[in-house]
Amino acid sequence: MRISVIGTGYLGATHAAAMAELGHEVIGVDVDDAKINRLRLGQVPFFEPGLPELLSKHVATGALRFTTSIGTAAEFADLHFVCVGTPQKKTEIGADLGYVDAAFAALAAVLRPGATVVGKSTVPVGTAARLATEVTAAGGDLVWNPEFLREGFAVEDTLHPDRVVLGVPRPDAADRLLEAYAPILTTGIPLVVTDYATAELVKVAANSFLATKISFINAMAEVCEVTGADVTQLATAIGHDARIGHRFLHAGLGFGGGCLPKDIRAFMARAGELGVDQAVAFLKSVDEINLRRRARMVDMAREMCDGSLAGRRIGVLGAAFKPNSDDIRDSPALDVASTIQRSGAAVRVYDPEAMVNAKDTHPALAYTPSAIEACRDADVVLHLTEWAEFNELDPEHLADVVHDTKLLDGRNALDPHRWRAAGWTFRALGRP
Ligand code: UDX
Repeated sequence: MRISVIGTGYLGATHAAAMAELGHEVIGVDVDDAKINRLRLGQVPFFEPGLPELLSKHVATGALRFTTSIGTAAEFADLHFVCVGTPQKKTEIGADLGYVDAAFAALAAVLRPGATVVGKSTVPVGTAARLATEVTAAGGDLVWNPEFLREGFAVEDTLHPDRVVLGVPRPDAADRLLEAYAPILTTGIPLVVTDYATAELVKVAANSFLATKISFINAMAEVCEVTGADVTQLATAIGHDARIGHRFLHAGLGFGGGCLPKDIRAFMARAGELGVDQAVAFLKSVDEINLRRRARMVDMAREMCDGSLAGRRIGVLGAAFKPNSDDIRDSPALDVASTIQRSGAAVRVYDPEAMVNAKDTHPALAYTPSAIEACRDADVVLHLTEWAEFNELDPEHLADVVHDTKLLDGRNALDPHRWRAAGWTFRALGRP
């Protein structure tokens, strides 16, 4: 089948390569010339494990092409996926739909009658119904198909999703999409066909639930800190209850990234517009608990520096919002690093993949080429993103490099016994 994918960020580039992997002919579209030029060469402009191999394989055969011309895409394909971003507005908590609106307007102007347009962007409930009038007026059908991919596992999540959700105006509107997804669906993955509003809400509800689960365990961490209890053991124990489960119960510095923080805020904003703000008022607490962990991390670093960060040297391990990603959008690590630097400390940051992005958005921080260099002469080392590489650091070797053997684990990912046995003062969020 001939497919176009509009928007070639984390979601769109992955979706385009995955559709080529399913055997389709795909054209990726973006307004960013530089990005398209790199993709044409088979290069992925961000870090996503497995994607470079998939992309270059299909670019080489010609099954996957890229263009900046929406007209070319409309001529080429009858199935279009809209994968552009919906970031938080600059001055409000609502989602900025500028990219979505622009993509739909551009596509509707050139759409071939009878084409199917699939919205994958995360949007406030009610958006699909509004956009459907535009697509219908151009002679096409709109299906809303939210994505659930996790960065770092984007290829796996696209080719082997937990479920496929389709919001449709009538059952046959999704026929062409079902045909395209047939290789995925024949493996027995659950398919939920529903209306637009439910499909849109599935996405924000899922992300709200995940954010709530993380903030729940981080709230327990706050209680553990004043009672001497251990949140990691608490999480293990409650997670054994199959109704609760272990996943997303990892206490630490909390969630960041391009999805969870802005999605719960956009949901609160939309609920307010709909007059049901009370229904999701708890998300405000979820957001506040999450941000409080960052403040707590800074306070603990200050405590470990005997009450003042001014003039201290702080080694920071991690800049990405989570491991296996170079994404630094709303990164808790960079937030903490910047706050500490503003408190007068000299902060040196190392991350295995996110250095280029971090330097770009946080040029005032100092960056080092290795974890060891970030820790050199440090009064305190902060572990802020749980890359596997940091777990392999040798506490005895690092002890020779730092000024003071003090480590603060913001991700509850390092083994306290190992570090304490090597003579370190080891502290972590939510545990003694
Ligand atoms: C998320 C959703 O998981 C995905 O389904 C959706 O499509 C997009 O948003 P992503 O932003 O890639 O994906 O990251 P995710 O793996 O969900 O992690 C989000 C944040 O939560 C990270 O900062 C991570 O460090 C943090 N986290 C996650 C915790 O602090 N504790 C946990 O137990 C799990």
